[in-house]
Amino acid sequence: MSNRSVDDDGRPMRTGTWVTASAHIITAVIGSGVLSLAWAIAQLGWVAGPAVLIIFSLITLFTSTLLADAYRHPDPVTGQRNYTYMDAVRAHLGGLRVRFCGVAQYANLVGVTVGYTITASISMASVRRWSCFHEGDKCHVSTTPYMIIFGSIQLILCQVPNFHKLSWLSLLAAVMSLTYSLIGLGLSIAKLVTGVEAKTTSTMVSEAERFWMICQAIGDIAFAYAYSTVLIEIQDTLKSSPAENKAMKRASLVGISTTTVFYLLCGCVGYAAFGKDAPGDLLSGSGFDHPVWLLNVANVCVAIHLVGAYQVFAQPIFSFVETSCRQRWPEVKFVTTDHQITIPILGGTSFHVNGFRVVWRSAYVAVTTVLATLIPFFNIFLALIGAVSFWPLTVYFPIEMYIARSKVPKFSFSWIGLQALSLVCLLVSLVAAAGSVEGLIQSLKMYHPFKNEV
Ligand SMILES: *[C@@H]1O[C@H](CO)[C@@H](O)[C@H](O)[C@H]1NC(C)=O
Repeated sequence: MSNRSVDDDGRPMRTGTWVTASAHIITAVIGSGVLSLAWAIAQLGWVAGPAVLIIFSLITLFTSTLLADAYRHPDPVTGQRNYTYMDAVRAHLGGLRVRFCGVAQYANLVGVTVGYTITASISMASVRRWSCFHEGDKCHVSTTPYMIIFGSIQLILCQVPNFHKLSWLSLLAAVMSLTYSLIGLGLSIAKLVTGVEAKTTSTMVSEAERFWMICQAIGDIAFAYAYSTVLIEIQDTLKSSPAENKAMKRASLVGISTTTVFYLLCGCVGYAAFGKDAPGDLLSGSGFDHPVWLLNVANVCVAIHLVGAYQVFAQPIFSFVETSCRQRWPEVKFVTTDHQITIPILGGTSFHVNGFRVVWRSAYVAVTTVLATLIPFFNIFLALIGAVSFWPLTVYFPIEMYIARSKVPKFSFSWIGLQALSLVCLLVSLVAAAGSVEGLIQSLKMYHPFKNEV
């Protein structure tokens, strides 16, 4: 009799379906971008804004289809599995590009976990701030305690050994992100129908400022779709029948089209409601100021969503480091041995505990939390990381792996088309990177260490 708890390669049995994969995608994708889209569309206008949004959704859908086929090598259905993006690049391309991929991917993942700690703490602190508004008008709330609360929750969650065991959290997070997007949308519609005058004439900004804002807006939209970073890792949670690449393509289609509909609605309705003055974050308080309870619900949803999203981005880092250490020190018991611990209170449920895993994951969470408290302007920094890694991870590697696998002849029609697409996206990446460097310079001018307030 075969052992049903392990897969063909001796790894734990995968149980994911296109539904759980769609949830992972929505969790990974939405949060990061949706609340700033009204601002981004306001910078680009009614025609270019939605057009850029749709173009990026199509590009992402296309390249994620290519990436889904790169999971198994050499054949997308019968080939051998690769567990991570880096392994897939190694199998298809090899050489220096593996390292390049690793740096882009893991810098991005680490950056996102720090960024989410900050964003979540701002949402939690906003809830606190609304409650002290009644007491007096000067009311500032430090976000540092909330970063520590967030870090403590992650400290517990990160002990869940792997990605497949986190599907429930991802589903919860996906529901949360849909909820606060709907609240943002509802409030925008309410503002629109109550007819508070929306200014469509811009507040005075210089030509140069306008240019940088357009760059940042294009960047915001491009990264609003950035989940290629975790695509292969998500695919590795899918069970093997139906074929993973088929299920993954379906999940990408569902995930990206859901997201695009939400983005278009939130972006366009938010722009219609606020005009050129659309806030950078719809729920932050510079946007809506009532009803307070609904804004509180939305901010709590943001925080819960980010709790899940943190895990979606942290788990690949965890397993990368643990796998590498296991290969490097196979004889060290601390690294390789799982101890079985049975807890009688929970009906004899047993857990596998690994000393190295506990120590390293806890240390990781602690370090990201400290980094978040030290660098309050980190999210602009994250935009730069996003800009720089958008092109290689979302466009370059999927296309190069496809060319290598399908042996597309050089200078053939489709080769030229693919390279042209890649070149255009490289330019977008550079433009967005320039925009975020400009933003970074602006916020360095106003930097106060440890002054984290909303
Ligand atoms: C990735 O796939 C290649 C090609 O089938 C295989 O040789 C390699 O061992 C795989 N890598 C991992 C880490 O499984």
